[in-house]
Amino acid sequence: MKRIGMGLVGAGFVGPHHVDAVRRLGFVDVVAVAGSSEASAKKKAEALGAPKAYGSYEALLDDPDVQVVHNATPNYLHYPVNAAAIAKGKHVVSDKPLAMTAAEAKTLLDAAKAKGIVHAVTFNYRGNPLVQQARHAIARGDIGAPHFLVGYYLQDWLIKDTDYSWRLEPDKGGASSALGDIGSHWCDLAQHISGLRITHVLGDITTVVPKRKKPRGSREAFQAGGGDDQVDLVDIRVEDLASVLLRFDNGAKGSFSVGQVCAGHKNDLILEICGPQGSIRWRQEHQNELWLGHRDKANEILQKDPALIDEEIRGYAHLPGGHQEAWADAFANLMRDIYGTIAEGRKPGGANHPPAFATFEDGYRANCVVEAILESAKQGSVWTKVSY
Ligand SMILES: NC(=O)c1ccc[n+]([C@@H]2O[C@H](COP(=O)([O-])OP(=O)(O)OC[C@H]3O[C@@H](n4cnc5c(N)ncnc54)[C@H](O)[C@@H]3O)[C@@H](O)[C@H]2O)c1
Repeated sequence: MKRIGMGLVGAGFVGPHHVDAVRRLGFVDVVAVAGSSEASAKKKAEALGAPKAYGSYEALLDDPDVQVVHNATPNYLHYPVNAAAIAKGKHVVSDKPLAMTAAEAKTLLDAAKAKGIVHAVTFNYRGNPLVQQARHAIARGDIGAPHFLVGYYLQDWLIKDTDYSWRLEPDKGGASSALGDIGSHWCDLAQHISGLRITHVLGDITTVVPKRKKPRGSREAFQAGGGDDQVDLVDIRVEDLASVLLRFDNGAKGSFSVGQVCAGHKNDLILEICGPQGSIRWRQEHQNELWLGHRDKANEILQKDPALIDEEIRGYAHLPGGHQEAWADAFANLMRDIYGTIAEGRKPGGANHPPAFATFEDGYRANCVVEAILESAKQGSVWTKVSY
């Protein structure tokens, strides 16, 4: 098989997981890492075993050995890095959210299509075998046409006023914090599993921690502040908690909440879809189990087991039943779908498009939903149409 060269821009929390995932495929070489400086790039490249290190993303994009660019930088760099990579004709795997605004996301989508490159966004929960099982079961009609989608995505890593992230600064994270960061995952997953589109939203957003102690030095995601950090007290203008009512294109209703200030919830994404013949619930923190709700017989728990899930999606499960698969395995499934498309020289979309592979189109849609929620909240929490 022809080998494919991958270059990573931004090796903080999630970047190394991109590297781990592509290495598992067996035909991808991690060629280079670009960091915010020459020194940090060298350190990260050495830690990740990448042969080349670049102090700027522009230098990485000039490397002819890099065919696929992975963008794992803070949100404000998604647009410029993705746009520059597309202009160079590189395939792009962008972390979410695709861009800071829906307009920027649309520009990226149009540019990627025009250039004919493969474009992907890491909505990685799609890669879980039981997520695909749920999607397959709903498409087959197991629960009938969904009429209610409900859930939440809660974390607790921003609960203290000493917790801090670039995600809380609008010029680096965007106009939204919790909704853009984790709400985008929930909305993508709900639409992916159900096959429905969110058409209208009503949002209620809150900043629970209005002032935070911002460290003077830099801190990567999920790192707690040390007691001796030098800090400045800053006002927070973005939401860390939100509740949203939803309407879908088949008339289904729904709701979800997101928050990063909810103690005990580490990465707690839960999604339930109810239809006339049954309900299906998947929970990220218990991701090897799928709850199947029934009216006229006992409810069931389907365990992640290649022998028990549908044949068509068995390829997403790599270990026998009882051998737990998790976040990083789902991430690798995503990369398998994306790089399979690249290796076969296909374009994203169309009949053979692998399901775990979210494109810039999906990224753009998530940006549109988040923007509509912010607009709804700004207008006093009124129903707002999502304009795609
Ligand atoms: N898919 C997921 O589940 C998931 C999980 C976490 C983060 N993310 C997304 O990934 C992105 C990165 O998040 P993170 O948590 O890893 O953040 P992070 O702050 O831990 O890492 C970002 C890295 O980018 C580097 N960087 C900053 N400017 C740069 C530049 N000009 N050139 C190259 N590198 C630069 C930083 O030094 C840092 O190492 C965000 O957009 C976030 O939304 C996605």
